[in-house]
Amino acid sequence: MEVAMDTPRRVEHQLTDKGYVPVYTTAVVEQPWGEYTASDHEVWATLFKRQREILPGRASSEFLAQQEAMGMASDQIPKFDDLNPVLRKATGWELIGVEGLLPELTFFEHLANRRFPVTWWIRKPDQLDYLSEPDLFHDLFGHVPLLMNPVFADYMAAYGRGGVKAHGIGQDALVNLTRLYWYTVEFGLIREKQGLRIYGSGIVSSKGESIHCLESKAPNRIGFDLERIMRTRYRIDTFQKTYFVIDSYEQLMEATGPDFSPIYEKLAALPSFPAGSVQDGDQVFNRGTGEGWLDDGDV
Ligand code: PHE
Ligand code: FE
Repeated sequence: MEVAMDTPRRVEHQLTDKGYVPVYTTAVVEQPWGEYTASDHEVWATLFKRQREILPGRASSEFLAQQEAMGMASDQIPKFDDLNPVLRKATGWELIGVEGLLPELTFFEHLANRRFPVTWWIRKPDQLDYLSEPDLFHDLFGHVPLLMNPVFADYMAAYGRGGVKAHGIGQDALVNLTRLYWYTVEFGLIREKQGLRIYGSGIVSSKGESIHCLESKAPNRIGFDLERIMRTRYRIDTFQKTYFVIDSYEQLMEATGPDFSPIYEKLAALPSFPAGSVQDGDQVFNRGTGEGWLDDGDV
């Protein structure tokens, strides 16, 4: 690794008008594996087993197969140093430890260089179902398995390069690109032979949303469409109102291949769509009933 290391520090929180938010730090840290407590390993084991029990038949077969291929298991928190040789060999990616959310440009630069930042600390036993920021379980269990897939691995690196570019263009471009990440990497569904499956990390790391996104009639399930997604606001505090469905990882790669600059320019003049809306031209797999939706709060 060519990045400077620091000693691990817990993320500090600051009270702002959005509540307590983590103070972002760019530090890359060595995973303090020896310092995980028995309770930390137990949280990992509990969440790992709980998700692996409900994900067969719900998660993308590729996600499940690659998670196994990596050697992730419930018995203890995996060591980044054990996973990295496997991952490097498969797709050239490696995991780096971080304190938590990174500033945008730092994050994009890591991705562009095939470094995936993984939060080193894990949630507490009273936070199994919800926490407001990514932890080790979300990052490692949710994001890392698909980095073993060559097409998805290329998509993530291309996204990183696209992020660096969008950052140079401006805030509107970043908003459009962030929505793409949200509706694919974090909350994407994929159509497999047997039916709709989950590949988004925000879903696979959540028991409630893993069931809700496929089985509930409340949310929209709509075919992937790049510009449609770039215009669609989303939820950060509740289950998504809309999920977008890809046909294959190849489709994702191909649809995002063209230069986004003219798209950003065009979209800057157009209004955004509410998170739960259905638009003309949508390929609708499920038109959401909207049950349980809050009216405001789309970001
Ligand atoms: N093609 C995009 C651009 O020109 C980059 C990109 C690729 C973004 C893949 C996201 C995913 O900006
Ligand atoms: Fe995430």
